Amino acid sequence: MKIKIAPSILASDFAKLGETVKLLEENGADLVHCDVMDGNFVPPITFGAQAVQAFRPHTRLPLDCHLMVLHPETHVEDFVKAGADYITVHVEACGEKTTNLIEKIHALGVKAGAVVNPETDIEAIFPACELSDMLLVMSVHPGWGGQKFIPESLKKIEKLRDYCVKIGRPELDIEVDGGINVENVKGVISAGANVIVAGSAVFNSSNMAETIARLRG
Ligand code: DX5
Ligand code: ZN
Repeated sequence: MKIKIAPSILASDFAKLGETVKLLEENGADLVHCDVMDGNFVPPITFGAQAVQAFRPHTRLPLDCHLMVLHPETHVEDFVKAGADYITVHVEACGEKTTNLIEKIHALGVKAGAVVNPETDIEAIFPACELSDMLLVMSVHPGWGGQKFIPESLKKIEKLRDYCVKIGRPELDIEVDGGINVENVKGVISAGANVIVAGSAVFNSSNMAETIARLRG
């Protein structure tokens, strides 16, 4: 399976978002991971659709908008208009309505998927697997960059890949987000993930292109 690297701009200088997304493209990234936080679902506030719209023209890379917000259904249209290519929503925020929201995002012409937090059983994402274009397993508690990878996430990734195989979608994108670096990425990929989010590892490195290449495992 193709390994895709999705650097999280959360770890970058917000004064230069346009330049940053351009730089990510030049340095071999596959997606731009955009961490949207609302101060409710998670304590911090980052940026919203207006900021995404502002840096959208500065790269051709797909924008992967990870919505850590309490009422994602009220915001998805704005992110579609802003130029998002993927919108992922938390099962903890949407509950049984997760699949409805994924359908709504699809109807707006954008790829969609579900996200599961570390304390949530991986089974909670299973009902969304048939419909999703990408599934996201959080490997840190959402809200902050620079945390340590939670090792129990590996079992969850394995279970999720097995389930994808079982339902006849063995190649479904499984993204993992939080605490990933060039040392632990191999374990994440062996567990069955193929889309790697990395914030600190990419933006704190002295050679972005080399780090992105090494994150491919
Ligand atoms: C956490 C975010 C992650 C995180 C990744 O809420 O969803 O994208 O910032 O950053 P690192 O790689 O620093 O853990
Ligand atoms: Zn994220």
